[in-house]
Amino acid sequence: MTEIPWRPDWRVGIAWMDRDHAILRRLADRLFAAASGDTAPAQVLAVADELIRHARLHFHKEEREMDRLGHADEVQHRFQHDHLIHELEHLRAELAREPHPDPAPLASFLHHWLDDHILESDRPLAAALRADAHR
Ligand SMILES: [Fe+2]
Repeated sequence: MTEIPWRPDWRVGIAWMDRDHAILRRLADRLFAAASGDTAPAQVLAVADELIRHARLHFHKEEREMDRLGHADEVQHRFQHDHLIHELEHLRAELAREPHPDPAPLASFLHHWLDDHILESDRPLAAALRADAHR
């Protein structure tokens, strides 16, 4: 099972966003690691829960900033957040049903989502935040 490689263009240049994204990536890595070892099912679910909790907190911060800025892409950006949480919860519920849960689908879904979302939606938000900071 692979680790999620860090992509330099995932760095958006807003410290708290970069920090949060690094944490999400680390949590997905822990899920990949759990998929390859024989981690207790309860522990796999605990990592999945932490990931969902962190994603919610992070999205809340981004959405608050989008509100403050009147960000043009806010509706679509929020929709992507809601969709991710919905999908993560669905995958987590599937994990909970398995006697030997395989967290790889959840980790790999998050990896691809991060890739698309950071590049397409978070980078423009970070640019708007930087512009706002210099006003
Ligand atoms: Fe976002």
